[in-house]
Amino acid sequence: MKNINRTVSTLFTPFADDASFGNGDSPSAKMIDGNLTVLKWPVKRESKTPVFHVMRVFILIALPLIFVATSLQASDTASYLNKTAPLEDRVNDLLGRLTEAEKISLLGGANVSTTVAIPRLQIPGMRMADAGSGVRGIDDSNNGPASLFPDAVMMAATWDPALIGRAAAAIGEEAHNKKAGSQILLGPAVNIQRSPLGGRNAEYFSEDPFLAGQMAVGFINGMQAVGTAACIKHFACNNEEVDRREVDVRVGERALREIYLPAFEAGVREGHVWTVMSSYNRVNGPHASANHYLLTDVLKQGWGFDGMVMSDWHGAHQTAAVINAGNDLEMPGPGKYLNPTAINLALQNGQTMTAAIDENVRRILRTIIRTRLLDGPWQPNPDTVNSPEHQKLTRVVAEQGIVLLKNQGSLLPLDMTKFHSIALIGIAVTNLQISGRGSADGTPFYSISPLAGIAKRAGDKVAISFASGNPVNEAVDAAKKSDVAVVFVSCYRTEGEKHDRPSMALPGRQDALVRAVAAANKKTIVVLNCGTPMDLRAWLDQVPGLLAVWYPGQEGGSAIASVLFGDVNPSGKLPTTFGARREDYPDYGNFPGVKNRVSYEEGIYVGYRHFDKESIVPLFPFGFGLSYTTFEYGSVRLSQSSLDPHGQISVSLEVKNTGSRAGQEVVELYVHDLSPKIDKPVRELKGFAKVSLEPGEKKTVSLPVSARDFAYFDVPGKQWKADAGDYEIQVGASSRDIRQKVTVHLASTFTEAVPLSSDQLSLNGGFGKNAAEDLAVGRPVQASSALEAFDAENAVDNDDTNHWSSERGSPQWLKVDLGKTTSINRVRLFWGDDYALDYALQVSGDGQSWTDVTRTSRGMGDIEWIRFAPTEARWVRVLANRPGKTGGGYSINSFEVYGASEHPLPDSP
Ligand code: BGC
Repeated sequence: MKNINRTVSTLFTPFADDASFGNGDSPSAKMIDGNLTVLKWPVKRESKTPVFHVMRVFILIALPLIFVATSLQASDTASYLNKTAPLEDRVNDLLGRLTEAEKISLLGGANVSTTVAIPRLQIPGMRMADAGSGVRGIDDSNNGPASLFPDAVMMAATWDPALIGRAAAAIGEEAHNKKAGSQILLGPAVNIQRSPLGGRNAEYFSEDPFLAGQMAVGFINGMQAVGTAACIKHFACNNEEVDRREVDVRVGERALREIYLPAFEAGVREGHVWTVMSSYNRVNGPHASANHYLLTDVLKQGWGFDGMVMSDWHGAHQTAAVINAGNDLEMPGPGKYLNPTAINLALQNGQTMTAAIDENVRRILRTIIRTRLLDGPWQPNPDTVNSPEHQKLTRVVAEQGIVLLKNQGSLLPLDMTKFHSIALIGIAVTNLQISGRGSADGTPFYSISPLAGIAKRAGDKVAISFASGNPVNEAVDAAKKSDVAVVFVSCYRTEGEKHDRPSMALPGRQDALVRAVAAANKKTIVVLNCGTPMDLRAWLDQVPGLLAVWYPGQEGGSAIASVLFGDVNPSGKLPTTFGARREDYPDYGNFPGVKNRVSYEEGIYVGYRHFDKESIVPLFPFGFGLSYTTFEYGSVRLSQSSLDPHGQISVSLEVKNTGSRAGQEVVELYVHDLSPKIDKPVRELKGFAKVSLEPGEKKTVSLPVSARDFAYFDVPGKQWKADAGDYEIQVGASSRDIRQKVTVHLASTFTEAVPLSSDQLSLNGGFGKNAAEDLAVGRPVQASSALEAFDAENAVDNDDTNHWSSERGSPQWLKVDLGKTTSINRVRLFWGDDYALDYALQVSGDGQSWTDVTRTSRGMGDIEWIRFAPTEARWVRVLANRPGKTGGGYSINSFEVYGASEHPLPDSP
């Protein structure tokens, strides 16, 4: 890893020219941070008038005093620029110098990729670039080519966080050495691959939270070690692309805590990531960018995150709610909601407070200081971009991430003494998809196609023929005439950012192509160029060889050749289950949801947790991958068989390479609760290690296990909990190939409390199998007025995509008849654009006389949960007295009422 070249320039050392003090001819002074600092003073040597004596006294006595005084003041003034001062001192110093207006200006970006600069205090803007597999500018200033690594899913397939750390360090170096230099790289993206159809699956690491978390930690460590801020994204539950800016993900807290949040938690608590990006979608109501539960309760208070949260691009939709929730920065700029006019209005209305603004600004300043922007300008070293070391590393990551899925009769590696001709078939032979789409896209300086990589490796002694597969008979001819056929099938950019896949089928006529080629040549190997599991059943049993090569980056063609010819022994394993059919997946029936709502009804049973629970045989299980050699797992030893709730044990075993080639094995550790007190997955990954072994060599692998690894999230108790009892440690080569088991006794119950969450999540209703019932749905409803086509019924039709609109003027009301007197305790109000600043929620037994349940003059719009003590009521009404927007009426997308008898914390299953 290279050191970053930095120089301290005079631009950032305000007293650099003080050396010339007293030698000048004319008075001069300059403003530093608004304070006048005397720099030069005229000295008249010839005259000896009284003025001279006054001057002499002044120079000899007063001036040194002034100098000392101004120096003291000056060094104090500049302490935020002192790079040796402690971070918090610098932050405090700088915060104290900002005017209110300057603080407010920092909350919205300056443009598409940069934060606001404050020249008065020499604060430059921070620049950001996408993303996880290479530096892709989000504006022209930092665009242009850069080294392109494999996508995240392939990085995870290496099961080697340290290697991914090296890749991230290279990406981080290129980020600040490219043309305009970026301080923040908008990765890693760690969302869980919930569905095989998820458009951004290739950009995400895994279906498993532990694997995704470990990859995130490796990535962040590597990137931040070279001074570039990582940005863990998209927080949280951005698991689909349809209506991604509006979809309301309804997910139980147990699934959130156990499946969707742990990778972020690892990135924050173990990786110490400097920035977080909130996601586009809503999570149980509010947008992630306005989600106090996620951003403040969980991230900041719960995990102790002290860095900066930015919105996803155009992902902020409110002013005060976004600030108060803890979304520090709106991107891109200029802020649509976090701009001076809107923020001042919110302050004036009492919807937000200056303390909240100070807190958010503090986090932005911390990031500016951490990225060393106040330590002097960058001295870019363009040679690091696409350096030979980086090129080599892109190839190593691709080689390590290729997964060998099938190798009947040990057809691979190709033995060049037996095979003299190879037919390469498929468009991807010359047009391999090497990166994802959207933010994951990359432009390398060069890329090696499979044709180029294989032809170079095969040399003159092997005849290579190429057929695109169109028409099919050309490919069949080539396959017939060759000793071996290698067919490349690809997703051809049918998935990506903004694009979920329509189905698991390979696009076009690729299934037919593989079948025809396999019929023509029994030695057919398929190379899968996809970022997500596909339906392979049409031909899988007809081909002896199959490799997953994902989106392998610029050296994809060379890496594929290395594996095909055995220069590299494949060691990648699946970071995601390859199920046989769409119906086998847990999100089936609940993806992508309807009318902007998606219920994660499968709860914690995502990926292999579902396949295991339902005993569904996948095509290839999570953690699976073949090698050209074989490994033997020795018996497992525990450092002690009884575990103290706050202790740790070490699980070790010997792994031996029993074949004749050097290779690497990923050893996987799963935990299994032998007497679960609540429903728990059959097994959960809690450790892994990749070990390199020469033929015949043995090595001891040791993995730590602690009680937290056995824990589930106890929703009512708001804590992590592992009940005392026996747990099985399973060690194996995949989630379905457990080689060794051993029992550990947890001596007493382990708990770890999390800070109490705000009401937003616990108030949630309407998702999962235990969905709280919205009592207002379809009930008779009336309103004070309604604009045509925006009837009151729209507010109670269980559909967030249409709304009731009143006429202009106040007050306006909407009331719903529950049909009978009912005990209620929660109302969810989902305002349209025209929300109420001042409103009351009221109940009535007769529909005539109303009692206030709550009243506010600081409404913020969007989704507001109102919780109150159980109250008997038949009618419920919202009475709007003052609009949030001047002159408008009111609009409500959804008015939901929940009964006090409902379980307040619905969680599934
Ligand atoms: C994507 C982010 C990306 C950002 C900036 C958004 O559309 O969701 O992943 O970092 O754009 O390009």
